[in-house]
Amino acid sequence: VIGVVVYSAPAKVYLSGEHAVVYGKRAVAVALDLRTTVRLERSDNFLYQTNTDTKYLEEAVSAFSSIKAVYGLNIKVESEIPVGSGLGSSAAVTVATLGALSEEFDVNLTKEEIAKLAFEVERSIQGVASPTDTFVSTVGGCVLVPDLIQIQDMLDCAIVIGDTRTVGSTKELVQAVKELRSSEPEVLDLIFDAIDQITASGIGWLEAGDYKRLGMLMNINHGLLDAMGLGSLELSAIVDGARGAGALGAKITGAGGGGCIVAICEEAMVEHIVEGIRAAGGEAIVAGVSRDGVRKGN
Ligand code: MEV
Repeated sequence: VIGVVVYSAPAKVYLSGEHAVVYGKRAVAVALDLRTTVRLERSDNFLYQTNTDTKYLEEAVSAFSSIKAVYGLNIKVESEIPVGSGLGSSAAVTVATLGALSEEFDVNLTKEEIAKLAFEVERSIQGVASPTDTFVSTVGGCVLVPDLIQIQDMLDCAIVIGDTRTVGSTKELVQAVKELRSSEPEVLDLIFDAIDQITASGIGWLEAGDYKRLGMLMNINHGLLDAMGLGSLELSAIVDGARGAGALGAKITGAGGGGCIVAICEEAMVEHIVEGIRAAGGEAIVAGVSRDGVRKGN
């Protein structure tokens, strides 16, 4: 193939279950229609232009090189996903890059292979990583974790993200939960079991299209994340802002400590929720579910 190959891959949020998944409990993550787009062209040397993390791009090229030799590339990345906010920006750039390379070099990687290779790239950079982000970014829709199966391809409600523009360290927060659990194992295990049940019940409401009940469970999940010390003043403020403006549910998404919240609402309420989040000091991003994972084009 000669010319420019364009591939994109989506961000994700957790509707429920982050942190509990570290202890083998269930979670639901959904792909968002915020995408990272990779434009790739063969070249005599390597040139990367990006507004996101370059190291994932480099590592993706290097991982791909073990499948097929790559001698030079001009890669341009444009991302709509805020970096370091728990929305999976590093997974999206990795997955989109592998998709583009696969096509350009006629390797025809399957989605399973892209997800697996992308997970290895993330793990080699982060030390530990969960396969959730790379899997969701590859397949799209609503995904049950740890099974990694798509349970539904769409949600019939709107999603608004509230970004605190502060960053929490996933590694430190996972460690803090581990320490809390070693001092209060019985209590923490009950919390993890409750979160697991939130996911199980939530899937039922999701499949029935009852977003009011789903939202209620997201609110409970937020309270449990808060109970484990994963909140912050900024996160609480924008969760309250979103709920006060009529969100059906709002919770921390990802590791917590900073980063983002996810709110679900009726389509007609989107502007209200955006205002509520802004008034509470957050940056609002309106997003729908992305049915597609990695795909050709942006
Ligand atoms: C972070 O996005 C999600 C956590 O559950 C950690 C993980 O699953 O790797 C907190």
